[in-house]
Amino acid sequence: MIKIAPSILSADFANMGRDVERLAAWGADAVHFDVMDGTFVPAITFGAEMCRAVRPYTKLPLDVHVMVEHPETYIASFRDAGADYFTFHVEADRHSHRTLQKIRMAGMKAGIALNPATPVCMVEEALSECDLVLVMSVNPGAGGQKFIPGALRKIERLVQLAREYGYRYEIEVDGGINAETAALAAEAGAMMLVSGSSIFKAEDPAALIAQMHALDKKI
Ligand code: DX5
Ligand code: ZN
Repeated sequence: MIKIAPSILSADFANMGRDVERLAAWGADAVHFDVMDGTFVPAITFGAEMCRAVRPYTKLPLDVHVMVEHPETYIASFRDAGADYFTFHVEADRHSHRTLQKIRMAGMKAGIALNPATPVCMVEEALSECDLVLVMSVNPGAGGQKFIPGALRKIERLVQLAREYGYRYEIEVDGGINAETAALAAEAGAMMLVSGSSIFKAEDPAALIAQMHALDKKI
Protein backbone atom coordinates (compact mmCIF):
# COMPACT_ATOMS: atom_id res chain seq x y z
CA MET A 1 0.00 0.00 0.00
CA ILE A 2 1.19 3.50 -0.77
CA LYS A 3 1.58 5.61 2.37
CA ILE A 4 0.92 9.32 2.47
CA ALA A 5 2.90 11.47 4.90
CA PRO A 6 1.72 15.10 4.97
CA SER A 7 4.50 17.53 5.91
CA ILE A 8 3.60 19.80 8.80
CA LEU A 9 5.94 22.40 7.31
CA SER A 10 2.79 23.58 5.54
CA ALA A 11 0.57 23.38 8.63
CA ASP A 12 -0.44 26.36 10.76
CA PHE A 13 2.41 26.70 13.29
CA ALA A 14 0.13 28.58 15.66
CA ASN A 15 -2.30 25.64 15.67
CA MET A 16 0.00 22.67 15.30
CA GLY A 17 -1.83 20.32 17.66
CA ARG A 18 -5.11 20.87 15.83
CA ASP A 19 -3.51 20.40 12.40
CA VAL A 20 -1.70 17.21 13.41
CA GLU A 21 -4.92 15.83 14.89
CA ARG A 22 -6.72 16.34 11.56
CA LEU A 23 -4.30 14.17 9.59
CA ALA A 24 -5.73 10.82 10.72
CA ALA A 25 -9.24 11.93 9.71
CA TRP A 26 -7.88 12.92 6.31
CA GLY A 27 -6.59 9.35 5.87
CA ALA A 28 -2.86 10.07 6.23
CA ASP A 29 -0.48 7.24 7.18
CA ALA A 30 2.26 9.23 8.93
CA VAL A 31 3.13 12.76 10.00
CA HIS A 32 6.22 14.13 8.23
CA PHE A 33 8.38 16.46 10.37
CA ASP A 34 10.84 18.74 8.59
CA VAL A 35 13.57 19.71 11.03
CA MET A 36 15.91 22.45 9.74
CA ASP A 37 18.89 23.86 11.62
CA GLY A 38 19.80 27.02 9.72
CA THR A 39 23.15 25.47 8.72
CA PHE A 40 22.58 22.38 6.59
CA VAL A 41 19.76 24.42 5.04
CA PRO A 42 19.27 28.17 5.58
CA ALA A 43 15.88 27.95 7.30
CA ILE A 44 15.19 27.04 10.94
CA THR A 45 11.95 25.21 11.75
CA PHE A 46 11.59 23.22 14.97
CA GLY A 47 13.18 20.38 16.90
CA ALA A 48 12.39 17.48 19.20
CA GLU A 49 10.23 19.64 21.49
CA MET A 50 7.71 20.06 18.68
CA CYS A 51 7.59 16.27 18.35
CA ARG A 52 6.93 15.93 22.07
CA ALA A 53 4.26 18.63 21.93
CA VAL A 54 2.22 17.05 19.14
CA ARG A 55 2.73 13.41 20.13
CA PRO A 56 -0.49 13.34 22.22
CA TYR A 57 -2.52 14.61 19.23
CA THR A 58 -2.08 11.56 16.98
CA LYS A 59 -1.51 7.83 16.93
CA LEU A 60 0.07 8.05 13.47
CA PRO A 61 3.80 7.36 13.19
CA LEU A 62 5.99 10.48 13.40
CA ASP A 63 8.29 10.51 10.37
CA VAL A 64 11.16 12.81 11.31
CA HIS A 65 13.33 14.18 8.47
CA VAL A 66 16.29 16.08 9.87
CA MET A 67 18.02 18.56 7.57
CA VAL A 68 20.77 19.25 10.09
CA GLU A 69 24.52 18.99 10.56
CA HIS A 70 25.72 16.33 13.05
CA PRO A 71 22.46 14.36 12.89
CA GLU A 72 23.75 11.64 15.24
CA THR A 73 23.63 14.08 18.17
CA TYR A 74 19.83 14.32 17.93
CA ILE A 75 18.92 10.61 17.86
CA ALA A 76 18.18 10.21 21.57
CA SER A 77 16.20 13.44 21.92
CA PHE A 78 13.85 12.58 19.04
CA ARG A 79 13.42 9.02 20.29
CA ASP A 80 12.54 10.35 23.76
CA ALA A 81 10.10 12.80 22.17
CA GLY A 82 8.18 9.98 20.46
CA ALA A 83 9.60 9.84 16.92
CA ASP A 84 9.07 6.59 14.97
CA TYR A 85 11.30 7.24 11.95
CA PHE A 86 14.56 9.21 12.01
CA THR A 87 15.90 10.13 8.58
CA PHE A 88 19.08 12.17 8.09
CA HIS A 89 21.04 13.36 5.06
CA VAL A 90 24.03 11.38 3.82
CA GLU A 91 25.60 14.73 2.83
CA ALA A 92 25.61 15.80 6.50
CA ASP A 93 27.32 12.73 7.97
CA ARG A 94 30.72 11.14 7.25
CA HIS A 95 29.71 8.05 9.22
CA SER A 96 26.25 7.35 7.91
CA HIS A 97 26.54 3.56 8.30
CA ARG A 98 27.18 3.91 12.02
CA THR A 99 24.47 6.55 12.43
CA LEU A 100 21.92 4.20 10.83
CA GLN A 101 22.92 1.49 13.30
CA LYS A 102 22.57 3.92 16.21
CA ILE A 103 19.06 4.91 15.11
CA ARG A 104 17.98 1.27 15.00
CA MET A 105 19.59 0.61 18.36
CA ALA A 106 17.61 3.53 19.76
CA GLY A 107 14.43 1.74 18.63
CA MET A 108 13.45 3.89 15.64
CA LYS A 109 13.25 3.13 11.94
CA ALA A 110 16.46 4.31 10.30
CA GLY A 111 16.28 6.41 7.16
CA ILE A 112 18.82 8.07 4.92
CA ALA A 113 18.04 10.99 2.59
CA LEU A 114 19.61 11.99 -0.71
CA ASN A 115 19.69 15.55 -2.07
CA PRO A 116 18.82 15.92 -5.76
CA ALA A 117 22.52 16.13 -6.73
CA THR A 118 23.51 13.03 -4.72
CA PRO A 119 23.56 9.74 -6.65
CA VAL A 120 22.20 6.49 -5.19
CA CYS A 121 25.71 4.97 -5.20
CA MET A 122 26.57 7.30 -2.27
CA VAL A 123 24.39 5.17 0.01
CA GLU A 124 24.70 1.78 -1.68
CA GLU A 125 27.04 0.31 0.95
CA ALA A 126 24.74 1.41 3.78
CA LEU A 127 21.46 0.09 2.37
CA SER A 128 21.57 -3.05 4.51
CA GLU A 129 21.15 -0.78 7.56
CA CYS A 130 18.21 1.21 6.15
CA ASP A 131 14.52 0.86 6.94
CA LEU A 132 13.80 3.80 4.66
CA VAL A 133 15.52 5.69 1.85
CA LEU A 134 14.29 9.23 1.20
CA VAL A 135 14.76 10.57 -2.31
CA MET A 136 14.51 14.37 -2.30
CA SER A 137 12.67 15.62 -5.35
CA VAL A 138 13.41 19.26 -4.50
CA ASN A 139 16.44 20.84 -2.87
CA PRO A 140 15.74 20.77 0.87
CA GLY A 141 14.94 23.96 2.70
CA ALA A 142 11.42 25.01 1.79
CA GLY A 143 7.99 23.77 0.83
CA GLY A 144 6.19 24.69 -2.36
CA GLN A 145 8.99 23.98 -4.85
CA LYS A 146 8.77 22.24 -8.22
CA PHE A 147 9.34 18.48 -8.53
CA ILE A 148 12.73 17.53 -10.04
CA PRO A 149 12.15 14.57 -12.43
CA GLY A 150 15.66 13.11 -11.92
CA ALA A 151 14.31 11.71 -8.64
CA LEU A 152 12.36 9.10 -10.61
CA ARG A 153 15.49 7.44 -11.96
CA LYS A 154 16.87 7.22 -8.43
CA ILE A 155 13.67 5.62 -7.13
CA GLU A 156 13.85 3.03 -9.93
CA ARG A 157 17.48 2.28 -9.05
CA LEU A 158 16.55 1.76 -5.39
CA VAL A 159 13.80 -0.67 -6.42
CA GLN A 160 16.33 -2.54 -8.53
CA LEU A 161 18.87 -2.75 -5.68
CA ALA A 162 16.21 -3.96 -3.23
CA ARG A 163 15.27 -6.77 -5.65
CA GLU A 164 18.87 -7.68 -6.32
CA TYR A 165 19.97 -7.88 -2.68
CA GLY A 166 16.69 -8.60 -0.89
CA TYR A 167 16.62 -5.30 1.00
CA ARG A 168 13.31 -4.38 2.61
CA TYR A 169 13.61 -0.59 2.96
CA GLU A 170 10.71 1.69 2.18
CA ILE A 171 11.32 4.21 -0.58
CA GLU A 172 10.05 7.69 0.26
CA VAL A 173 9.90 10.71 -2.04
CA ASP A 174 9.74 14.27 -0.76
CA GLY A 175 9.20 17.60 -2.51
CA GLY A 176 6.78 18.94 -5.10
CA ILE A 177 4.36 16.02 -4.74
CA ASN A 178 0.87 16.72 -6.06
CA ALA A 179 -1.67 14.47 -7.81
CA GLU A 180 0.38 14.35 -11.05
CA THR A 181 3.88 13.92 -9.62
CA ALA A 182 2.55 11.41 -7.06
CA ALA A 183 1.49 9.21 -9.98
CA LEU A 184 4.96 9.41 -11.54
CA ALA A 185 6.69 8.63 -8.24
CA ALA A 186 4.37 5.70 -7.48
CA GLU A 187 4.94 4.27 -10.92
CA ALA A 188 8.71 4.49 -10.39
CA GLY A 189 8.29 2.50 -7.15
CA ALA A 190 7.96 5.04 -4.32
CA MET A 191 6.01 3.61 -1.37
CA MET A 192 5.75 6.63 0.90
CA LEU A 193 4.82 10.03 -0.55
CA VAL A 194 5.52 13.22 1.41
CA SER A 195 3.34 16.16 0.49
CA GLY A 196 3.15 19.52 2.22
CA SER A 197 1.69 22.44 0.31
CA SER A 198 -0.53 20.36 -2.02
CA ILE A 199 -2.31 18.63 0.86
CA PHE A 200 -2.59 21.57 3.25
CA LYS A 201 -3.76 23.92 0.49
CA ALA A 202 -6.19 21.42 -1.06
CA GLU A 203 -9.87 22.27 -0.91
CA ASP A 204 -10.51 18.68 0.13
CA PRO A 205 -7.32 17.18 1.61
CA ALA A 206 -9.04 13.84 2.35
CA ALA A 207 -10.02 13.47 -1.32
CA LEU A 208 -6.47 14.24 -2.48
CA ILE A 209 -5.04 11.67 -0.06
CA ALA A 210 -7.61 9.10 -1.25
CA GLN A 211 -6.61 9.84 -4.85
CA MET A 212 -2.94 9.28 -3.96
CA HIS A 213 -3.79 6.03 -2.14
CA ALA A 214 -5.64 4.83 -5.22
CA LEU A 215 -2.42 5.00 -7.27
CA ASP A 216 -1.71 1.59 -5.78
CA LYS A 217 -4.28 -0.03 -7.98
CA LYS A 218 -2.99 1.60 -11.15
CA ILE A 219 0.52 0.16 -10.96
C1 DX5 B 1 11.67 20.28 1.93
C2 DX5 B 1 10.95 19.35 2.87
C3 DX5 B 1 9.66 18.80 2.36
C4 DX5 B 1 8.64 19.85 2.06
C5 DX5 B 1 7.65 19.30 1.09
O1 DX5 B 1 12.86 20.70 2.52
O2 DX5 B 1 11.78 18.25 3.19
O3 DX5 B 1 9.13 17.83 3.23
O4 DX5 B 1 7.97 20.31 3.18
O5 DX5 B 1 6.79 20.33 0.78
P1 DX5 B 1 6.04 20.40 -0.61
O6 DX5 B 1 5.16 19.22 -0.69
O7 DX5 B 1 5.32 21.70 -0.51
O8 DX5 B 1 7.10 20.41 -1.68
ZN1 ZN C 1 10.89 16.43 4.34
